[in-house]
Amino acid sequence: MNLSKFGEKFTRKAGITQLMDDLGAAMAGGDMLMLGGGNPAHIPEVQDLFRERMEAILAEPRGFETMIGNYDGSRGNQAFVEALAKLLRETFGWEIGPQNIALTNGAQSGLFYLFNLFAGEMPDGSKKKILFPLTPEYIGYADAGLSDDFFEARRPSIELLEDGQFKYHVDFQALEVGDNIGAMCVSRPTNPTGNVLTGDEIMHLDAIAREKDIPFIIDGAYGTPFPDIIYTDATPIWSSNTVLTMSLSKFGLPNLRTGIVIAREEIASAIADINGVMNLAPGGIGSRMAMEMVRTGEIIRISHEIIKPFYKRKAFQTLELFRQELGPSTGSGPAVPYRIHKPEGALFLWIWFQDLPITSAELYERLKKRSCLVVPGSYFFPGLENEDWQHKHECIRVTYAQDDAVVAEGVKIIADEVRRLFA
Ligand SMILES: Cc1ncc(COP(=O)(O)O)c(C=O)c1O
Repeated sequence: MNLSKFGEKFTRKAGITQLMDDLGAAMAGGDMLMLGGGNPAHIPEVQDLFRERMEAILAEPRGFETMIGNYDGSRGNQAFVEALAKLLRETFGWEIGPQNIALTNGAQSGLFYLFNLFAGEMPDGSKKKILFPLTPEYIGYADAGLSDDFFEARRPSIELLEDGQFKYHVDFQALEVGDNIGAMCVSRPTNPTGNVLTGDEIMHLDAIAREKDIPFIIDGAYGTPFPDIIYTDATPIWSSNTVLTMSLSKFGLPNLRTGIVIAREEIASAIADINGVMNLAPGGIGSRMAMEMVRTGEIIRISHEIIKPFYKRKAFQTLELFRQELGPSTGSGPAVPYRIHKPEGALFLWIWFQDLPITSAELYERLKKRSCLVVPGSYFFPGLENEDWQHKHECIRVTYAQDDAVVAEGVKIIADEVRRLFA
């Protein structure tokens, strides 16, 4: 088959595609402990509410027929977009209306559009890139550029905390933003680390972006006001220079593929234009299912009262389990030198085994042989692929969204394997 550059780039088995296939194949094999994926939990109370919503739609006159039988506009379901603009205006005082919002088929495709709107080959022939001011960052960004050599990234500074924890920060001293940067992007909370960039860091990044006249993309797939999987105080920030992406996936509807872009008018319109070309319109079942919850503000209550506490309990329980299994990570001669990133949100613990005798990819293979799946940390450095940095190979991402018993058994296996490695 003769493929175009596009064809070659997107069918080349990227590392992440191979890893995802591997995870999928391993899962299909049966009794795997899945601490590797990004699927949100099935939270019974939330699923009951979705079931009720679906039943209510089915009971409305022509509710079912219009839900499945009509295209939405290229910006997405108009009533949903209006209700969301009102909710954000009233909750945060942001000056936005429906003209500032466009829906996409999942946040993933919204981010793909945004990256390629601002980076790649420019009309004057120059090239621009997307900058991640702090890595580790979300694995799903890595191949989302239409051309190669699309991303730049910076290492973080590392703050060592008490209790064997640590926290990444943006290293502003090393953060030069060249004229070749078309936009900056962070996820907040961050997948894979559970980091929540501080308000000061976000304001500082926004100021740099303004000065450079480039957009600042904040990926809020886990953020406020929904699904609100944040365990610290984090003020959501939006300005005419920021582009906030949100999603209904971690609210519990990943299979309905509903992403949301909130941006100044010209950017939101550009997303709608791309939607028109790529999809005609985004799928509308997710927005239909969540519409009433957005209109009444229930979506915020459900996130705050059910979803956040659900994951918070699991995060700290899993942290405790690691401590029980591995012993205190500081103090005199811990058996295994490890630190855990301060869990501030999202669905993951990020564990750093300092001076790990093998790479995290090899550790992944060993754990897989013992029916426990994690994700090796080296995948989470998009833009930093060519940088030789030992830290990239010393970390793993552990998802705690699965049932408690599965997580507990997985933690035992991970701890046992690394204890043997360090013995
Ligand atoms: C940080 C981050 N951004 C975006 C996405 C994409 O989400 P969606 O399901 O809305 O495409 C994910 C999914 O895991 C994510 O973790």
